[in-house]
Amino acid sequence: MEVVIVPDAKAGGELIAEAMAQLLRRKPDALLGVATGSTPLPIYQALTAKVRAGEVDASAARIAQLDEYVGLPTGHPESYRATVLREVVEPLGLSEAAFMGPDGSAEDVQAACVEYDQALASAGGVDLQLLGIGTDGHIGFNEPCSSIASRTRIKTLTEQTITDNARFFDGDLSQVPRHVITQGIGTILEARHLVLLATGEGKADAVAATVEGPVAAVVPASALQLHPHATVVVDEAAASKLK
Ligand code: F6R
Repeated sequence: MEVVIVPDAKAGGELIAEAMAQLLRRKPDALLGVATGSTPLPIYQALTAKVRAGEVDASAARIAQLDEYVGLPTGHPESYRATVLREVVEPLGLSEAAFMGPDGSAEDVQAACVEYDQALASAGGVDLQLLGIGTDGHIGFNEPCSSIASRTRIKTLTEQTITDNARFFDGDLSQVPRHVITQGIGTILEARHLVLLATGEGKADAVAATVEGPVAAVVPASALQLHPHATVVVDEAAASKLK
């Protein structure tokens, strides 16, 4: 695992966007795995700026979603599908056809999970998977004690994550869905390159446990230690508890 400490979130976004641009120059139809939440926004902004400046052509890029709420009405603005379309797909000038994600409104959610793992494999696998990290060490929505071998499946959010995510639902805890579909840790580990960005002091404990603790299901992000090409980019605040 490579750990890169950057001064702030903007620098982290720029660094990772440049890695994505380099990948796209080498492999124009790369499958980019994206995360939602606040942390990756500087990455998407920096990559969009590069595309608009003509520094990289993203027109053949493909985008794969990491996770999704279960039960939100189709098109709900806080569904992760709508979020990724708004924050990544549209700014990069891509069409919805370039996007794939798990179907959180499927009648048979279990089948939708299996289908998504199959779709990722059929697409050739994820080339670069972006990850954020929860304050409890989750990646995707693999909450603590998720199996390190897990595949895409339905999970129940912890109270901590429901509280953390209430800000996207006007602070109303009751509006936050309780269930999600998430790529499993085993699914995530199949991506060719994992890039985790963590910013802010609130992530410092989770980052320390991920980087310096043992590989343990209780800290899902620690599974990155098992991956042959994992990069953890942290700002100084998130790095503050590293030894
Ligand atoms: C969302 C996801 C989550 C977030 C994590 C951090 O797609 O994968 O693991 O990355 O909850 O969220 P932020 O960045 O909002 O702190």
